[in-house]
Amino acid sequence: MSTKVRKAVLPVAGLGTRVLPGAKTTPKNMLNVFDRPILSYIVEEARAAGVEHFVFVVGRGQGAIEDYFDASPEIEGALEAKGKADILAEVRRDLPQPGQMSFVRQMAPLGLGHAVWCARDIIGDEPFAVILPDMLMAADTPTLAQAVAAYDQVGGNIIVVEPAPEGEAHKYGIVDLESRKGRINRMRGMVEKPAPGTEPSNLFISGRYILQPDIFPLLEKQGKGAGGEIQLTDAMAELMKVQPFHALEYEGVTYDCGDKIGLLRANVAFALRHPTFGGAAREAITGLL
Ligand code: UTP
Repeated sequence: MSTKVRKAVLPVAGLGTRVLPGAKTTPKNMLNVFDRPILSYIVEEARAAGVEHFVFVVGRGQGAIEDYFDASPEIEGALEAKGKADILAEVRRDLPQPGQMSFVRQMAPLGLGHAVWCARDIIGDEPFAVILPDMLMAADTPTLAQAVAAYDQVGGNIIVVEPAPEGEAHKYGIVDLESRKGRINRMRGMVEKPAPGTEPSNLFISGRYILQPDIFPLLEKQGKGAGGEIQLTDAMAELMKVQPFHALEYEGVTYDCGDKIGLLRANVAFALRHPTFGGAAREAITGLL
């Protein structure tokens, strides 16, 4: 069994109700953040962490994702004929090596835990990453690479966390730590949306995980949890009884592209930091204010 994190699961089969109607015919994670789809940034982050195989858990009507990560001979041919090498490079930047991406169908959106379970045969018996592609992160060291570095240090299972905004911890999945010293801390448990005043910490689970394959048999027998969905958190809580989990407080900024204002913030932030268009973006945004 490989102990290196070579594979990542990207669950994208949710309905994306908070960003409708935009997500009606375009999969939520194919919506643009400035000049490319959210998934372009996510795959870039995973590659930087050494991920060699991507398992997308998709739903019906999400064929655009598979097409995006495939060659487009007509577009590429036209750009070549016109000598537009820079746009051609942009179009090709996200293409995988042949066989590097798998697509499995989650036939009904039964919950994140169920989505991850759908990837079990392709992951097999090795540690793997889970990336929630709604959560776009800007970080000097890409977030998943920070998680892999923590994994290389302490092993077991890693959950990436970050401080919740003041007074908002009760809205999130919050981790309970044995003690807090530095950025990597052993976990004691986690609580989904704790009642205000009862939060065990201010650190919420922010969408990057490294898990052992032992999670799969637990997901298989996991019943419905919060919201009537099969929850990844419930299976992780079971696994935590027999394996260590560490929370990694990562360094960077998260943009939740799963809701309209978060998506807007991401668009503004990534336009401003764009190497070519950043200056023009700043002018345009300032002009609007
Ligand atoms: P969300 O909680 O954001 O759900 O899922 P959602 O359906 O995408 O969005 P809303 O709440 O209806 O607006 C977190 C991640 O888990 C995936 C989603 O695609 C998203 O990337 N997911 C969730 C699945 O793949 N399958 C599911 O059954 C549920």
